[in-house]
This record gives sequence, structure tokens and C-alpha cells, in this order.
Amino acid sequence: TADVVPQAPEDPLFGLMAAYRKDTNEKKVDLGIGAYRDDNAKPWVLPVVKEADDLLRKDPDLNHEYLPIGGLVAFNQASQKLILGKDSAAIKDQRVVSLQTVSGTGAVHLGSAFIAKFYTPKTAEAKAIYISSPSWANHNQIIDNVHLPVKTYPYFSKETKGLDFDGMINGLESAPEGSVILLHACAHNPTGVDPTREQWTKIAEVMKQKKHFPFFDCAYQGFASGSLSTDAWAINHFVDQGFELMIAQSYAKNFGLYGERAGCFHFVAAPAGNAQDTVARVGSQLAILQRSEISNPPAYGARIASLILNDEKLFAQWEEDLRTMSGRIKSMRKALKSHLDQLGTPGKWDHIMEQIGMFSFTGLNEQQVGRLRSEFHVYMTKNGRISMAGLNRGNVEYFAKSMDEVVRG
Ligand code: LMR
Repeated sequence: TADVVPQAPEDPLFGLMAAYRKDTNEKKVDLGIGAYRDDNAKPWVLPVVKEADDLLRKDPDLNHEYLPIGGLVAFNQASQKLILGKDSAAIKDQRVVSLQTVSGTGAVHLGSAFIAKFYTPKTAEAKAIYISSPSWANHNQIIDNVHLPVKTYPYFSKETKGLDFDGMINGLESAPEGSVILLHACAHNPTGVDPTREQWTKIAEVMKQKKHFPFFDCAYQGFASGSLSTDAWAINHFVDQGFELMIAQSYAKNFGLYGERAGCFHFVAAPAGNAQDTVARVGSQLAILQRSEISNPPAYGARIASLILNDEKLFAQWEEDLRTMSGRIKSMRKALKSHLDQLGTPGKWDHIMEQIGMFSFTGLNEQQVGRLRSEFHVYMTKNGRISMAGLNRGNVEYFAKSMDEVVRG
């Protein structure tokens, strides 16, 4: 009977969101979940998404039929081009197979389920997925749910609050040959720390030597630097090096389509004579996994994204909206740093400026995070991660002062 089912802990991020909503203090600040907010701390419907939505609603042929198992074809094709580039040799050679998924989470799941079912490395111990330490908390349980061991490689240096590059390289070198390595394509969650291009080049070299299998999670394309191609650079470097690899692509953040669950999974075969045959076989198995789990993906969000991705004018407007979001986040990094400088807050805070994307890994400890919540009504995850998008001109000074107080102890 169900008596044997133990109580599970609440999801830390969604629990935090619920606690924030319940808090009635007017000074409260939400730096928890990674969702963009405007300068009034409100969710932002991208103007281009509003426009596409209006167009869709006016379409007399719009209906609620099932999408194909692999999702909306125009969306998948545009998603390939977005992430691999319009002139991608891999697309031209037809060595990419793509399925629309339930956002990035669904894509990470589909890739993990595929590895669990079909991956046959030389040694059994290589059948595991390596994630960075730390990584997005959900990676761990998505992989665990398909009964694959989760292993970690070093990533973040507590001392420099930057990349532990030597640690990462050592970790990759000591992983058994042919391991699956999950990499954040850009705007690493939770740390906001990305390798430089030079470092990515070295990472690719080591992974090639070790015959590791790259699995990219790309949840912030266009959001980190403001440029779609810059944020996809690492993925394309690996593709150019001839890797066989997988990509999980989310449209939650860069289109602000959080609840619509629009995403895409791509399998890219290595450039070899039989690559087209490989993607046909892989694609057929992915379709069975998809059919048995979600039957076919949700339509609405993908339709919105597809309209924008396939229309030059809307696409250009989207790029503008992306710059609005990444620009506001960058200005908040500057504002927070300069308030801390003015306050003379003990410690070094340059990393707030150096980190990139939605998050900053502040270095605040669990006790300081606890005080920020109980005394100042500031909500963030226990590991000291803040969602930069939760800051705005109205609350950044209050947050800096609160931070200053808890840092002084
Ligand atoms: C986050 O890390 O805050 C976001 O990616 C939201 C989520 O689903 O965890």
C-alpha cells in the first residue's frame, strides 16, 4: 500500500516562490527563480511575443489538433538553424535530428532517457552522466529518474568565484573514456561563470582525446551576451570539431515562454559516410520514447516561437527584446556592485560584474541567506545564487544595504 511512500522534501525553488508570494511585507525582494522581471519586478511579455500571439489568435485556421510526435516541423527546422547557424554544414549534410520537447527539462530528459536505453560505452562505468559541480538542481533528478548514475566534474572555484579550469580539465581527464558530459552552453546556472573561448577549445580537445560524449544544455541563448550566435559559440565549436553530440534547447527564458513549455532536442551525428543513416535510426527511437512519454508536444508556445523564428521582421524585433533583457540585467550588475562599493561592504565583489546571464553566485553563505530572508524579506536559493532579473532601480539599493548588513554579521 501507499504507507511505504516516504514524504519527499518540497522543491527548493518552487518552495521559495510560494514562500515569497505569501510574504506580505512591502519591501520583499524575489531573487529566487530564474525568470525575467521588468524594472517594476513584473513578468515581462516580450513585445514580439505579444505580436506573434495576436497574429496567431487572428488565424482562422488555428485549431487544437495533435502535433506530430516530433512536434511542429517548421519550429524544429528553425530551432536547428538558430542553434547551429543558418549555414551549418551539419544541417546541410542532414546529420541533425530534432524533436520538439516540453521545454529544456523535457529535452534534457529525452536525451538522458536515450542514453539510458541505448548508450553502450566500452566499460559499464562510463555509462553515467557527468554534470558540473554545482549544476542546475534539476539535472540531478532528471538523470537519476532514468536510472543513470550522476557523477560530477569540478567547475566553480570558491576562492576566485570564477571557473576552476584546472579542476574541470582534471575531472574530464580522469572520467572513464566515453563518458557523457553535460555542459552548459552559456550563462551557467547557478554560477553565471562560463569558460572563455580558449578554455572551451581546450575542453573540446580533452573530450576528444577521451572520446567523451557532449550533451549541451542551452537555456539562455541570446540572454547571456545579448547575441544569439555568441551564446551558441561553444556548441558550434564542438560541432566543427566533428563530435557526435546532443543539445537540449529551451525557449523559456529567451522568449519568456516559461509556462508554455517550448523547447527542442537535437541529436547531431558525426560527419561520416553513414551519418544520415545514423540520424534516421536515432530519430526513430527518439520518436518511440517521445510517444510513450508525452505522445506529442504542446503546440501553442512552439507556434509562437516558430512564427518569430521564421519571419525576418519578427526575428529582428526579438533580437531587440533580447538586448532589452540582457542590457537591463547588466545594468543591475553594475548598480549592485557600485552600491556595495559605496557601502564599503567587506569582501571582493568583482565577480558580480564578471559573471554572466540570469544569475550571480554571490558567495553568501547559507546563514547569511537565511538572515536575508527572515530579517529583510529577500528570497534567494540557499547556495547564495541570486536571479539578477529580480533586481531593479527600486530595490537594488535596499538589497545592497541588506547584503552589507548580513556580510558584516
Ligand atoms: C532556475 O534555475 O531558477 C530556472 O531554471 C527555473 C527552474 O525551472 O528551475
